[in-house]
Amino acid sequence: MELTGARVLVAGATGVLGGLAARALAERGARVALAGRNPVRLAALARDLGGCPARSFEACDLDQCSALGPWATRVLAGLDGVLVTVGTAGFGAVEDVSNEVAGHLLTVNALCPMAILRGASSLVSDKGFLLAVTGAVADRPRAGAAVEHAAPGLRTARAPAPALGTGTGTGTDRTTPSRARTTPSTDRADSMMGRDNARTDIASYLAGTADYTASKAALSSWLGVLAAELAPRAVTVLDIRAPRLETGATGRRAPGRPPALPNEAAALDAARALLDRITSA
Ligand SMILES: NC(=O)c1ccc[n+]([C@@H]2O[C@H](COP(=O)([O-])OP(=O)(O)OC[C@H]3O[C@@H](n4cnc5c(N)ncnc54)[C@H](OP(=O)(O)O)[C@@H]3O)[C@@H](O)[C@H]2O)c1
Repeated sequence: MELTGARVLVAGATGVLGGLAARALAERGARVALAGRNPVRLAALARDLGGCPARSFEACDLDQCSALGPWATRVLAGLDGVLVTVGTAGFGAVEDVSNEVAGHLLTVNALCPMAILRGASSLVSDKGFLLAVTGAVADRPRAGAAVEHAAPGLRTARAPAPALGTGTGTGTDRTTPSRARTTPSTDRADSMMGRDNARTDIASYLAGTADYTASKAALSSWLGVLAAELAPRAVTVLDIRAPRLETGATGRRAPGRPPALPNEAAALDAARALLDRITSA
């Protein structure tokens, strides 16, 4: 997708990755509308980017989240793409994580991005894009569990792919039946973001991340279905499996102690790769 002149909503713009991505989008000629929690930092970024429109929101208010797409469409006179970089961290063994913390993780990391993209999905232009950052953990949500299908005989039965139209642009291989049609593009984003560590055995550092991992895996699954639903309109749905980034996010206000994680990747490189992925969509 051509970014020059593209009208793009960045939700989570006051975060490290969101801020870098918003700046990079503006540098590449996109017209951005910024959304973030902190009105002061948001206004400062909007000023830096030439006085672009900005609106603050709270991730736990899902109606506010869903209203961002309509707002951006109004102030930009259309909408070609949405980047959601909202997210929070929280760690601890399952027995130590309170229901409140677990609920907060699910709300900020899954329900909020879903609500933002839900509100934007019917408004984004055909051949546009919807992007959310999940994380490398979304690759292996069931890492240690024994999985048994209730009706093993049914597992091998090949169900016909749902009739989803013939649109292109989901970033998927349309020659492969149902998986291709229901999986947002992640592999190329992985490789472009230097994703060697995403390919390592991440089960080794999953302990203490059950609720965080569940929140990102939930979002990832949801994006997969969204990609299938929007395929007829050739809207690209991107599930960015970011590795650990040097943004400091995992230690910021996060309950619990972060587990030992693999090496960090440069946030600026990640933001640039994210935009390269959009332009190649
Ligand atoms: N950093 C990593 O290692 C890593 C790895 C994998 C995936 N990710 C994901 O990448 C995305 C960006 O991460 P980052 O490193 O740039 O983190 P970050 O700097 O902490 O940015 C997170 C953004 O989410 C916003 N946010 C958090 N809670 C919110 C709430 N209740 N209401 C509204 N906004 C809220 C933050 O707002 P404020 O600016 O007001 O705090 C910030 O804009 C996140 O989805 C994160 O989970 C990060």
